[in-house]
Amino acid sequence: MPADPDADALALEELLALARSVQERAYAPYSDYRVGAAIRSSSGRVFLGCNVENAAYPEGTCAEAGAIAAMAAAGEREIEVVVVVADGPGLTTPCGGCRQKIREFATAETVVHAAGPDGIAASFGVADLLPSSFGPGHLGRPDPGV
Ligand code: THU
Repeated sequence: MPADPDADALALEELLALARSVQERAYAPYSDYRVGAAIRSSSGRVFLGCNVENAAYPEGTCAEAGAIAAMAAAGEREIEVVVVVADGPGLTTPCGGCRQKIREFATAETVVHAAGPDGIAASFGVADLLPSSFGPGHLGRPDPGV
């Protein structure tokens, strides 16, 4: 629980603004579905990603995957908050593969926010998005669990 809940709300608005700014850089010429993702790691650093499609369709990557790769490359290993933003009809939640990617670095406190044109529309714990998940603990690795 943050000492000042308003400060946390502001931080979330900032994360959403950053997700929006990286969404503009999405490379989505095939789907025209532009997605931005902002991740705040447990150390407070922020990492951004956008979807990057490819003429060989399966080679495209999701916004969340880009943000996670940036986080891991910076040496960070714990996701505190994810904000995903897109403008299509309906709620843009992470795809199945990205749910698993998020789970790798998640804890029971990790929150995933899904945002659309009107801002954050829904928020989830990782266990909501990926119940009974497979994780590092199954392979004998440290795993805080979700
Ligand atoms: N996409 C993401 O980047 N993240 C999601 O959470 C859902 C889908 C991308 C993949 C593809 O480039 C486009 O959106 C349409 O599926």
